[in-house]
Amino acid sequence: MNRKILVIGGGGREHALIWKIAQSPSVNKIYAAPGNGGISELAENVAIGIKEVDKLVAFAKEKQIDLTVVGPDDALAVGVVDAFQKEDLRIFGPTKAAAQIEASKAFSKDLMKKNNIPTANYFNFTDIDEAKKYLKSCSYPTVVKASGLAAGKGVIICEDQTQAENALDEIMSDKIFGSSGDTVVIEDFLQGQEVSIHALSDGNKAVIFPTSQDHKQIFDEDKGPNTGGMGVIAPIDWVTDSNMQTIKTKIVQPVLDGLRNEDANFVGCLYPGLMIDGDKVNTVEFNARFGDPETEVYMRLLDSDIVEIFESCVDGNLDPEEVQWKSGYAVTVVLASGGYPGKYQTGLPISGIEEAEKLDNVIVFHAGTKKAGDQYLTAGGRVLNVTATGETLNEALATAYKAVDLIHFEGVHYRTDIGKRPS
Ligand code: AMP
Ligand code: GLY
Repeated sequence: MNRKILVIGGGGREHALIWKIAQSPSVNKIYAAPGNGGISELAENVAIGIKEVDKLVAFAKEKQIDLTVVGPDDALAVGVVDAFQKEDLRIFGPTKAAAQIEASKAFSKDLMKKNNIPTANYFNFTDIDEAKKYLKSCSYPTVVKASGLAAGKGVIICEDQTQAENALDEIMSDKIFGSSGDTVVIEDFLQGQEVSIHALSDGNKAVIFPTSQDHKQIFDEDKGPNTGGMGVIAPIDWVTDSNMQTIKTKIVQPVLDGLRNEDANFVGCLYPGLMIDGDKVNTVEFNARFGDPETEVYMRLLDSDIVEIFESCVDGNLDPEEVQWKSGYAVTVVLASGGYPGKYQTGLPISGIEEAEKLDNVIVFHAGTKKAGDQYLTAGGRVLNVTATGETLNEALATAYKAVDLIHFEGVHYRTDIGKRPS
């Protein structure tokens, strides 16, 4: 086989996917739309945006792409998969209908309720006065969420009624998240530790990945505002077999069955965010795509040929035996631009990537970079993902931080406590 693959996206997640795809003996050409500086070493970057559906379809036809893989939620939410399928082009990812599980929290919560999937109690509101009335009777802290996509920022945890009223004003009146805040979900606060799971699905069956844990806040000790994710470790030792059984039988399979019953077959990567408190596992949210930076870690641990797995999902015949994992641990530490997740500068020269990658077991996946001649420059909020593997979690972390020390750009910021949470 001489497969041609197109990957839609240009972040660390897509760099990691492309790094893994490039190892498949069946692949001889990879395109990335739009790609980034690091991706350009492995794939040809194409200047098409992730939501330019018509251009993506035309490109896939022209280049006779054998399989397209979608990274970002925005591309799924505008129906890129539907458009490809209409033209009989093979694509890995859920349709617009199935991707609603992430794009609409109100849809997602209703589906969970209908299928008895454990999640926080909630109400959906489209009327701000009704929502404010509810705030008088609910217990605190409470969680106010814009229903639509908001780049991971649409969730406000409110300690009291005043904070919750302010959150509603911002989301529903001031429209700080645009039309994503037309509907609001207000739900109970969940106690516990957050864990990420990924499950690949062919529409019927699911293969569940090892557990992982993101670190969403910008500063050490989980302080400061939420980001897209500042570091990930996998697997998580304290998650029990009984927790995993709950995740499989009470969360992942029921949601896939529930979506199928709504004529929204889910083919792709389902990524539930979970809150675990002892034996209790609750669903915080469902994402309809690979996590970023979870993928950077998972690709380091996956032993099997990812292209064959994607093909089986698209064909509807995924075999769990196909998905094999390496032993040991993988971690990623994100290097971000100073000021992220607020305003930050771009175009700053980056040094030390090559030296870092000379260390055993280290790979640096690029998120926001571009290449100018031989020089990498910063081009985004999250700039690099320094990944490392090890026999133990501590070994992987020590290696990753050794690599981090070798890399520099002006204003670089990273968390120094990835993987250090008490369990
Ligand atoms: P979401 O976009 O729904 O994943 O929410 C973003 C983050 O807000 C999550 O990763 C959690 O850290 C937090 N969060 C969301 N919902 C809840 C909840 N019901 N209880 C506690 N924390 C929550
Ligand atoms: N790691 C967070 C996300 O991908 O949504």
